[in-house]
Amino acid sequence: MYRIGIDLGGTNIKAGIVGEGQNILREKFVPTLAHRPAEEVIIDMAKLVLSILEEESLGIRDVAGIGIGCPGMIDAKSGEVPYSNNLCWENVPLAPLLKKSLRAECPIKISNDANCAALGEAKAGAAKGVSNVVLFTLGTGVGGGVIVDGRIFEGAHAGGAELGHTTLIMGGEECTCGRKGCVEAYASATALIRDARRAAGKEPGSLMNALCGGDLDRMNGKIPFDAMEQGDKTAKALVERYFDYLAESVANFVNLFRPDVVLLSGGICNQGRNLTDPLNERLGRLCFGGKKAFVPEIRCATLGNLAGIIGAANLV
Ligand code: BGC
Repeated sequence: MYRIGIDLGGTNIKAGIVGEGQNILREKFVPTLAHRPAEEVIIDMAKLVLSILEEESLGIRDVAGIGIGCPGMIDAKSGEVPYSNNLCWENVPLAPLLKKSLRAECPIKISNDANCAALGEAKAGAAKGVSNVVLFTLGTGVGGGVIVDGRIFEGAHAGGAELGHTTLIMGGEECTCGRKGCVEAYASATALIRDARRAAGKEPGSLMNALCGGDLDRMNGKIPFDAMEQGDKTAKALVERYFDYLAESVANFVNLFRPDVVLLSGGICNQGRNLTDPLNERLGRLCFGGKKAFVPEIRCATLGNLAGIIGAANLV
């Protein structure tokens, strides 16, 4: 029997057939087009699942279970999404609607997208075999996934383990969730790009302007790192500040969960040790107990987009 993992994102719906050895037999994606009614998105999820099964000459009866990772507040017990800031969803019965669309008899479980990414990395990626993991997805938003004793920590009710929506700076930058000063508003790729635009705008001589071709709308998360490498002081100050935000956030969660390892995922991980070395150096200083306590290593996740699919499949 096979399991299906679905990673529902603001941009794409990705689905894969996952085998016993956490191998992906086939995976595919379609655009989410999140502005549509939720029912239409869910119909597309069902079509995507049927299409990957058909390509492997399988049917829904060959599936032992389906797992879905979805951004936002997830009610794992009812399979509903009470609220998703990323998809602009409110009270969407995601699992029941998908079950109906697929006429599936197998179980369908849901969890937050970052929870699934953390579980995927713990099953088959950078934290394989590790029991206690905290993972941050650094993308448009900041997702948080917490694995305790090999299992996702959901919290007793929907909306637990939302590490990206804890306060880093009281009264700070506006967050997509309507609050102010969240970790997401400082440590996401979106926040880095916003700050890079501001810094380059104030400093016309900064190389970041040239790397954008003079158009700050073309700023991306790589440009500050490239400019820093070429000796640009404005970019260096910006990136160092970004490391400070991220390290302070990670230290808070190490003090809460004291995991074996901390993982980061998202495009910014292409920076590899240019990202993790300065963060690990800071973490040693910032955690409660300093070097007298166990300080987990910060590593980059290794499964990329597949983490969410593998993790979701492992919900069932
Ligand atoms: C959402 C989280 C999600 C994260 C990554 C945040 O804006 O609130 O639930 O895990 O983005 O997609």
